[in-house]
Amino acid sequence: MKKQVKTAAVLFLLACVSMTSCNTSKKDNNNNMIEKVSFGKLPDGQETELYTLKNASGMEVKISNFGGTVVSWTAPNNKGVYEDVILGCDSVAGYVKGVPYFGALIGRFGNRIANGKFTLEGKEYTLAQNNGVNALHGGLKGFDKVLWTATPIEGEEPALKLTYTAKDGEEGYPGNLSVEVVYTLQKDNALKIDYKATTDKTTIINLTNHTYFNLNGNLDSDILEHEVTLNADKFLPVDKTLIPTGELKPVTGNVFDFLKSKKISAGINDTTDTQIKAGGGYDHCWVLTDSTKTLKSAATVYEPKSGRVLEVLTTEPAIQFYAGNFLNGTIKGKNGIIYKHRSGLCLETQHYPDSPNKPAFPSTVLKPNETYQTTTVYKFSVK
Ligand code: BGC
Repeated sequence: MKKQVKTAAVLFLLACVSMTSCNTSKKDNNNNMIEKVSFGKLPDGQETELYTLKNASGMEVKISNFGGTVVSWTAPNNKGVYEDVILGCDSVAGYVKGVPYFGALIGRFGNRIANGKFTLEGKEYTLAQNNGVNALHGGLKGFDKVLWTATPIEGEEPALKLTYTAKDGEEGYPGNLSVEVVYTLQKDNALKIDYKATTDKTTIINLTNHTYFNLNGNLDSDILEHEVTLNADKFLPVDKTLIPTGELKPVTGNVFDFLKSKKISAGINDTTDTQIKAGGGYDHCWVLTDSTKTLKSAATVYEPKSGRVLEVLTTEPAIQFYAGNFLNGTIKGKNGIIYKHRSGLCLETQHYPDSPNKPAFPSTVLKPNETYQTTTVYKFSVK
């Protein structure tokens, strides 16, 4: 009898281990919670997971091992009400169906590479042209569409470690690239993202996160009245395929000046500006005034009605501010909400687009004896 009970217990445990739908939650010594549930199956039958990181003040960030995607994120308004402030889907099926990189980790190379070609150590590499004639965000199956290995980390602040090794030749890039990304939900309502990577062959790398924020707390609205500050005195003008021309243009005297806080609506529709025309609005890379690799403030977004403030700090030299210009009301997101034109904005910390073809831009080359390491922090507060 005793043996039967034991066997049943073992069987139950085994079933739990093999079923990712078996919820697990772990409370660490600081009362932080890391919970894991199923996020649904991929078309090939693989299970995906959704982890919830929760801090002591009540902020909740949900992250999937599919694409390392930040799926939802609650932040308090000026009345202390926590609401979801990012675009996303209810289950993995939505992401598989196709969304423009909602919340995802982007790699091996974030942003565009002209004509999907670059030369490294005398060898030409060809990538998929998945954005007109250009390569965008790591290719047809970039880091946003792969299954990462997730490990919750206990400690003073809840964290999730994600690892993935991209194979030599995967999506056309050279070198086996081992990537580690750690999301840490800090006590001060900030999500810190630490990126690390090593390679066994010289390669190129530009990792980022592609979360679409809408600080209204109502995702059925646009972000045009959000007030943005970018600590950047130059931006990169682009050609009609959104590839930088190579010029670093001062922001002073044009609609790209966000050195002082400004409503997005003030300049985004100014089609007398050739760059607004080219980008269909703001979809450009701003060069941070402080070019050091220290963690410095890159951007701040303020939404006056809710009082929410989002500050972005980074060790990276630049930030792509994309105002959701290509969202066109065809994607149904969480809770059945249709994501309208400009219902979310992205602040993608990174190196400059098309760096592999622009020797004057800061290098994005990673060699076998080096470690790629960057940090970005997204911090919420109220005003
Ligand atoms: C790019 C946009 C693009 C979006 C989604 C952004 O990083 O700058 O041009 O439409 O990603 O793909």
